[in-house]
Amino acid sequence: MSEDLTPETPTEQPLADRGSNRSQRPSSPEFVRFITSGWGERASSTLERSPAADHTSARRSALSAQFPGERLVVPAGTFKQRSNDTDYRFRPHSAFAHLTGLGSEQEPDAVLVLHPVEDGSGDDGSGHHAVLYIRPLAGRDTEEFFSDARYGEFWVGARPTLEDLETLTGVSTAHLDDLRDALAKDVGVDGVQVRVVPEADAAIEELVEEIRATEAAGERDERLAEALSELRLVKDAHEIEQMRLAVDTTIDGFEKIVRALPQAVAHRRGERVIEGTFIGHARVEGNAVGYETIAASGEHATTLHWTDNDGQVRAGELVLVDAGVEVDSLYTADITRTLPVDGRFTEVQRRIYQAVLDAADAAFVAAVPGARFRDVHAAAMKVIAERLAEWGLLPVTAEEALLPENQHHRRWMVHGTSHHLGLDVHDCAQARAELYLDGILEPGMVFTIEPGLYFKSDDLLVPEEFRGIGVRIEDDVLVTSDGNENLSAALPREPDAVEAWMAGLLGR
Ligand code: GLY
Ligand code: MN
Ligand code: MN
Repeated sequence: MSEDLTPETPTEQPLADRGSNRSQRPSSPEFVRFITSGWGERASSTLERSPAADHTSARRSALSAQFPGERLVVPAGTFKQRSNDTDYRFRPHSAFAHLTGLGSEQEPDAVLVLHPVEDGSGDDGSGHHAVLYIRPLAGRDTEEFFSDARYGEFWVGARPTLEDLETLTGVSTAHLDDLRDALAKDVGVDGVQVRVVPEADAAIEELVEEIRATEAAGERDERLAEALSELRLVKDAHEIEQMRLAVDTTIDGFEKIVRALPQAVAHRRGERVIEGTFIGHARVEGNAVGYETIAASGEHATTLHWTDNDGQVRAGELVLVDAGVEVDSLYTADITRTLPVDGRFTEVQRRIYQAVLDAADAAFVAAVPGARFRDVHAAAMKVIAERLAEWGLLPVTAEEALLPENQHHRRWMVHGTSHHLGLDVHDCAQARAELYLDGILEPGMVFTIEPGLYFKSDDLLVPEEFRGIGVRIEDDVLVTSDGNENLSAALPREPDAVEAWMAGLLGR
């Protein structure tokens, strides 16, 4: 055996501590005394009650009614590490945002707890009293003030106080240090049962596990996640207002994209020009994008989730853009338009586009209260199958293709037609099938209608002229008492209207 020539690793300093090797922050008592003194009074808070606060208590009451006598734990979540001491931007768990009305970057490590109280004696006459446990702003006499890069005022700005968050949300607040005792109170086999939202915050989940010390509580927690998802199937007035804002802001972003098309065509990574234009807009006008933007030119449009966005954008091709602005309250739009890069559809592009548009229009007709969610998809699929049959692409009739045991038409549209939309782009994802796919449409539901046709460039079953063309048209729909409203109707979708709109924006 040869001699081991690996140099000896120095053992004095554990690897985990080495991040501080670049830090030259002084820690002498004299420095600490000096930096923690000599600060003026903090300015008094200007925070006001958020408009969401008038709606969140009804949401909490609806949840309360489903879990009488139980303690419900809804964490905001914590930071997700990106690398070393760098984190991703914080976004609270959607269930937490829904029940507190808090939005962008509010509030890392916070935990909303619905404590069971005697029925009728809780908040708004419910059976629960809500308390928001937070890590409040630390005093300037603490080390956190100047040395904590995640939470310290010197590093991330002044965090809210308990009073601030109580004003903002209308929910009672308490220090995070009180959480453990509050969760454990009266817990036991014959005592209070605790449920925690799964996968929101590992440390809080662990704490709850420790406290309840019962095995197989996972199912109980999943039932809570399901209830929280189902609570969002019908949006209240404030949520609908936020959805309108998200959609309108997204439409503005699509206008900016069209204006940027000449620049995109001129750049070797034109798809990134489109993506970057939209990200910049989303960040300036809202919180962020609600999901990774798809900017897919030419053949890339046939890859359903094309997010590399590193391709060229060429005149004569279609570019499929699927993008949504998430506004500060965290509600997001989800809109797709497939645009002719040079502003004019070719005859074959228009033929395929029109088939997808007809499918979308049929889905709109089906999206009315009392219908089933799955009827919307069925209506779109009927048109898609019929068009494919007319073009001679199906080995069977459209009717035969539509049979559950066949589905040939789905070769060219493997995704679904609709999903609920709200705080999450795929909202209400934990809802039971009987309320989602088999659910009955009700006023206040918001979902997408997004049929498409995707012909890959090596698909030997389609005419050559179809190859490399992908089209999706995606709109955001609100079910109303007598039908529906296309929230994204202001963004042109008819081919002539798309061309006229583009011509106006491009000054042609
Ligand atoms: N943008 C993702 C989707 O349309 O579902
Ligand atoms: Mn969608
Ligand atoms: Mn989409």
